[in-house]
Amino acid sequence: MSLNSAGIFAEKFGYKARITAFAPGRVNLIGEHTDYNGGFVFPCALDLGIEGSAGLRSDRTLRFYSANFALNGVTEISLDSPLSGDWTDYPLSVYKAFKAMGYSADKGADFVFTGNLPDGSGLSSSAALEVLTGLIISKLYGFPVTAQQLAVFGQFAENRFIGVNCGIMDQFASAMGKRGCAVMLDSATLDFSYSKIDTTAAAIVIVNSKVKHSLASSEYNTRRRECERALASLNEVKKSPSLCAYTPGEFEEYKNAVKDDVIKRRARHAVYENERVKNAAKALDCGDLQHFGKLMNESHVSLRDDYEVSCGELDFLCETAWKIPGVYGARMTGGGFGGCTVNLVKRDSLENFEKTIKEEYKKRFGVDAELYAVSAGDGARISADN
Ligand code: GLA
Repeated sequence: MSLNSAGIFAEKFGYKARITAFAPGRVNLIGEHTDYNGGFVFPCALDLGIEGSAGLRSDRTLRFYSANFALNGVTEISLDSPLSGDWTDYPLSVYKAFKAMGYSADKGADFVFTGNLPDGSGLSSSAALEVLTGLIISKLYGFPVTAQQLAVFGQFAENRFIGVNCGIMDQFASAMGKRGCAVMLDSATLDFSYSKIDTTAAAIVIVNSKVKHSLASSEYNTRRRECERALASLNEVKKSPSLCAYTPGEFEEYKNAVKDDVIKRRARHAVYENERVKNAAKALDCGDLQHFGKLMNESHVSLRDDYEVSCGELDFLCETAWKIPGVYGARMTGGGFGGCTVNLVKRDSLENFEKTIKEEYKKRFGVDAELYAVSAGDGARISADN
């Protein structure tokens, strides 16, 4: 897939880019809002993502151009500039993260980005941009940084500079994804393993509700604080480093230590969702798609009722999918408040699935849902180093 960032680079900046690289978006199969609660997640990288081309400069200027924000033209800042509130904050924050980690760039660079992730769809375009910028920086300046560190630096950039207290899932999937596999990641230790996804019998279909997840960052930070409150209360009766370190049995035993009902429900989601991820990975390894799908459905119900991060459109897309023959499971994916659902659909039911979802969604909300049958792709990689 060529997104032609190198061609646009030559046009915009009048010289040949040194590095061209790609970082994918991700879809999470199950394990939502567990990655900042010390739990497991089970995402895969996509074939969709962001490509970037870059060249080193001799001064301290940074120039950024995105074909997706073409109207903004070229943004010119310096390595020492503060954030400005536009999209260039993402690559700039990655420079700042590298500096904080002891890798200080002494020269500026020119960048062109082109992407094919649907905008605002919750498929982690920001994480892809962070990991991509990190990969390019590491090559341009010769910083010896591993793929895992790229994920950590990306998350650091997002937490410290962008101000979203996200977990590590999105950046990890973008940096460490593997073709044909989902990544089973323990967010507490960063231990991970790959599970093969057999897509001959079933397809992973993403449905974009087209609802922009604008509430996401403020509500996201609120959920995190609620989880911290739940953990503090539970810790009064049974010490644990994180919510996901409680088993469901322990949670049932100690839950009355959490007095506030809303806070208790947040904790219940985290504890049971973590259990579901572990069971889902086992189900996938034994090829039990029926069970995998059932866990996906339960995950959605928990995100809707206990964690309250769904919305009418996502609920409708899942409830519609659950009734279509050949659908193993359907759930919202990512942070929530809009974005996409992920569906596991029998190959021979795909056509009917697509038709029914599109028709029903249009009838109910007057909006054309977009569907993408995706395959799991590799993590971030360099495609040219001149
Ligand atoms: C966002 C965050 C992730 C994760 C998900 C919810 O995508 O960036 O770290 O918490 O929400 O599972």
